[in-house]
Amino acid sequence: MGFGIFGFCLVLTLFFKHLTCQQPNTDGFFVSEFLKKTISSSYSTFSKSYYLSGSSYCSWQGVLCDAQKEHMVEFKASGLGLFGPIPDNTIGKLNKLQSLDLSSNKITGLPSDFWSLTSLKSLNLSSN
Ligand SMILES: *[C@@H]1O[C@H](CO)[C@@H](O)[C@H](O)[C@H]1NC(C)=O
Repeated sequence: MGFGIFGFCLVLTLFFKHLTCQQPNTDGFFVSEFLKKTISSSYSTFSKSYYLSGSSYCSWQGVLCDAQKEHMVEFKASGLGLFGPIPDNTIGKLNKLQSLDLSSNKITGLPSDFWSLTSLKSLNLSSN
């Protein structure tokens, strides 16, 4: 059952990149939106489908969630070829985020809601 839904989401996301199986207004949704909008097309298809598949974002490499698996606490996305400004309604909505590493990408700007990340203690934007 679980695998069926996972497989369904994977197929959907692989073939219809604009669709997502993440619940709206959850940390998983916000971070998927962020990656969808900033992963450059030159980056390998494998990584793209890995990050954008329906699997729980808490199990992604570089992600640490709280014990309830409701909120993202740590996000390391260094050197993934992320490109452009961070869009509104993505990273800035992860209100339990304590550590963010977007170093070694091509991030060009921060969203206005970035300043509502009141839990943030560590931010690495070097080499952008
Ligand atoms: C920030 O990221 C760069 C590149 O990944 C790394 O070399 C550096 O040590 C990081 N800085 C901190 C304070 O973690």
